[in-house]
Amino acid sequence: MEGELKLLLRQFKHKATSTYSYLIASKLNNAILIDPVKEEIKKYQKKLKEFNLELKYAIDTHVHADHITALGDLRDIYDCKTIMGEQSKVNCISQSISDGENLYLDEIRIKAIYTPGHTDDSYCYLLNDNKKQFLFSGDTLLIKGNGRTDFQNGDPSLLFESLHEKILILDDETIIYPAHDYKGFKSTTIKEEKINNHRLSMDKNTFINFMNSLNLETPKLIDIAVSLNKECGIIK
Ligand SMILES: [Fe+2]
Repeated sequence: MEGELKLLLRQFKHKATSTYSYLIASKLNNAILIDPVKEEIKKYQKKLKEFNLELKYAIDTHVHADHITALGDLRDIYDCKTIMGEQSKVNCISQSISDGENLYLDEIRIKAIYTPGHTDDSYCYLLNDNKKQFLFSGDTLLIKGNGRTDFQNGDPSLLFESLHEKILILDDETIIYPAHDYKGFKSTTIKEEKINNHRLSMDKNTFINFMNSLNLETPKLIDIAVSLNKECGIIK
C-alpha cells in the first residue's frame, strides 16, 4: 500500500490478538504511532531507526481490552506525547483530545472524531494527505464488521449513531484502517463498506438487536488489559 502514498504509512499486525497498529511519518521524518502494542515495540523501534524517524506522538483509539498498550513504554523511550480521548480518563497520558480537535504532524493534519459505541471512549482519527484521506477507525468500524458493544460501557445505539452520523458521511474514497481484522483483510474504503458490510444496511432497531444477540467470548486478557492500559501499559 505504501507505493501509492506520499506520506510514509506502515501497518503492523499483532498476531495473537489480530490487532493492527500504524506508523505514519511526515516529510520531516516526524512520526506518530496509532494503537501500538507493548509486545511489538521492537518492531516499531526497528522501523523508526530504519527510516530515521523521530516519534512525536503515540495514540490509542480507546482503552483496549485484548492487548497491552505500548504508550507508556514509547513515552519512556522516545519522550513522545501520549494521547487519548478526554473520555478515556487515563491519567498517565500527556494530552487529552476532544471531538473535532486537530493534531498536526508537520504537513499532516489528524482530526479526532469521537465515536462512542464500541466503548464510551472510542475515537477515530481522520488523516489528510492532500489528495487522499485515511480513517484510523479503531474498533468502531471494522472490515465487513464493527466492534462489539458488550463491555466497557459499550452501547449499540450509540455505535449505530457514530457509524451513520460520523463515519459513513465521509467521502466514499476514504481509506479505512481498522484496529483489528480476524480474516486477513488489511484495509477497506467507505464505499466498499457501504456495499459489503451488511451491518451498515440494518435499521437502528435491527442493529441493536443484532449486537445484543452476538454472545461473543470475553477476551482472555480483559481484566488485566483494561486496568494496565489505564496505566499506559506500565506494570508498577
Ligand atoms: Fe476494543
